[in-house]
Amino acid sequence: MNNIQPGILAEIPELARYQTYAIDDVDAIAGCLRELRNMADGDRLVVGIGASLATALGQPIEGLETFPAIAASGIDIPSTPAALWCWLRGDDRGQIYHQSRLLEALLMPAFTLVDNIDSFQFDRNRDLSGYEDGTENPDGDDAVNTAIVQHRGPGLDGSSFLAVQQWLHDFDSFDAMSTEQQDDVFGRHVADNEEFDEAPESAHVKRTAQESFDPEAFLLRRSMPWAEDTRGGLVFAAFGRDFSAFATILNRMVGLEDGIQDALFSFTQPLSGQYFWCPPLKNGALDLSALGL
Ligand code: HEM
Repeated sequence: MNNIQPGILAEIPELARYQTYAIDDVDAIAGCLRELRNMADGDRLVVGIGASLATALGQPIEGLETFPAIAASGIDIPSTPAALWCWLRGDDRGQIYHQSRLLEALLMPAFTLVDNIDSFQFDRNRDLSGYEDGTENPDGDDAVNTAIVQHRGPGLDGSSFLAVQQWLHDFDSFDAMSTEQQDDVFGRHVADNEEFDEAPESAHVKRTAQESFDPEAFLLRRSMPWAEDTRGGLVFAAFGRDFSAFATILNRMVGLEDGIQDALFSFTQPLSGQYFWCPPLKNGALDLSALGL
């Protein structure tokens, strides 16, 4: 367990900043990652490696792919790959801000900051829609078995595969629905978070019910709300021991399985889509041996 970036298994923090970086200078990558290895404790700073970064180092990670774009009926699921993902976690916005400045400076020789999203907890674990998010997450050993690579050898064991999507909510559409219609979107009552039996097939919890897939498709979700000016939504983040559970669930959400689309799409849409590999730890620092470092 001490070879897992602890921020993956921990509850979501009060505040966070998600940053993605693109490669600017391939020759400077190794030096930067060696420095990042010591800065990233896996708790205040969780790190994910994109496929293009592993490839640039000549060390592709088996199973690390590029997020697949999907064109479903009336729904575009975008793919917006990035080389490096950094999740700064904490409870003080000033500290996170200064940490992210240090991080950007450390990475600057090799990487350019592409995207910066500030996120936060809303009434503990609620999405900005008001619905509790994360209720059906596995915990304890189940969380480890769901999210963490095991039995693949040193350098890979303790790592995790991560899918991230920034979703933008349309609150004009959402607010125009009655509470019953909103409950039908999720398949849960906002008042008490109870799942109801008679939920429509399009309800989010019906589309995503982890035990209803064969094989079962469990995810460890660590999503957080985001807001900027008047826009807001959810940074969806799901850890797995590979990407198969995420891809299977998303395919059913967009209707590829049975033509029924997730009612979530009536008020929200993804702006981005990325896959990363989150390396394990060794002696409290990132273990980048699978990348040849
Ligand atoms: C804006 C985007 C999303 C919102 C607001 C959202 C919100 C929610 C909420 C409120 C629940 C019910 C409580 C819970 O168990 O957490 C839930 C369940 C779940 N969601 Fe999402 N979700 C979003 C996107 C996604 C995506 C993209 C996936 C995977 C591809 C996903 C997978 C799941 C899973 C696996 C469950 C648990 C289902 C079960 O086993 O009962 N969600 N989500």
